[in-house]
Amino acid sequence: MAAPRILALESSCDETACAVVEGLFVRASVVASQVELHAQFGGVVPELASRHHLTAVVPVVREALARAGAGLDEFDAIGVTEGPGLVGALLVGVQLARGLSLATGLPLVGVHHMEGHLVSPFLGDADTPAGEFVPHLALSVSGGHSELVHVQGLGRYEVLGSTRDDAAGEAFDKAAKLLGLGYPGGPVIDGLAAEGDPEAVPFPRAMLGSRENLEFSFSGLKTAVAVYIDQHGQPSSRQALADVCASFQAAVVSVLVAKLRVARRRVGASLVTIVGGVSANRGLREALAAAAAKDGFTLRAPPLRYCGDNAAMIGGAAALRWAAGARREPPVEVYASLALDEGRARG
Ligand code: KG4
Ligand code: ZN
Repeated sequence: MAAPRILALESSCDETACAVVEGLFVRASVVASQVELHAQFGGVVPELASRHHLTAVVPVVREALARAGAGLDEFDAIGVTEGPGLVGALLVGVQLARGLSLATGLPLVGVHHMEGHLVSPFLGDADTPAGEFVPHLALSVSGGHSELVHVQGLGRYEVLGSTRDDAAGEAFDKAAKLLGLGYPGGPVIDGLAAEGDPEAVPFPRAMLGSRENLEFSFSGLKTAVAVYIDQHGQPSSRQALADVCASFQAAVVSVLVAKLRVARRRVGASLVTIVGGVSANRGLREALAAAAAKDGFTLRAPPLRYCGDNAAMIGGAAALRWAAGARREPPVEVYASLALDEGRARG
């Protein structure tokens, strides 16, 4: 069967995105980020996000079609994120997808946002060869999620462990806020950490009891950063700031890597992926590459352009779903929360 041609839309949080894909090959991917808009408020403001999706969505679709040199008559289906995410934000993408479906007769494929992230390391484009979506262990780390997922096949996901409180990206964002580094915190801390000493401050590593426990907890680490600032004041030099950032990042990374290694041994996976915004983190990538060499597994990480939210990953997931026979008549709905496991609890 020829690779399914999908027009994909993503608007679950603060990125408005559209992509044109053929199977897992990305012909065009356009992302309009609202990061600067929300930065002044220190986080995503849902009402503002919805309004900006509304302004951005049509230009983003036009741009993706133009870059791919594609017309609306060339597709097999329209893929769209149906959840989880901000309801008002999701509605913008879903309503446009429904409208396009009505106008063109193209069927819709509703995509789970996290399934999109799981597919992202396998996307290919002019610069990167596509992979095959085979069984593996995924570490999914973003602003809203920290999960170890045993991917047994398309739609067959076992969540082995997740965060009890803050997600990994959230921990970066909160630590950055405490240090006066702005939003989002991950990229800034990542940059400063490269200049600092990861052993300068002994921040806690929350292993939550036994090594076999695959849950994460990052709120204690955030508190430790607050206590450190209380006791020592804000770092007084760039070097002192870099040391705090490097020590904080080392604490997050060492817990993620330790849990991932236990999970990998447990499920016997030879392939490991990292996905989500935090998978861009250089410290995490380096530590995982070292673990891969030591433990003998293959590590696959998406190119940086597919780490954060984008529609190429939604298109890739829709193409896999389409090839597996998934078709959905409108209306596709929106869901604030949506379980990743098959059987999908919707809410
Ligand atoms: O996947 P994503 O774009 O959006 C969500 O679905 O949440 O992830 C955004 C998160 C933010 O918390 C941001 O601080 C974090 O990813 N992030 C990073 C890096 N780049 C983005 N965290 C650590 N290191 C980075 N280089
Ligand atoms: Zn995401």
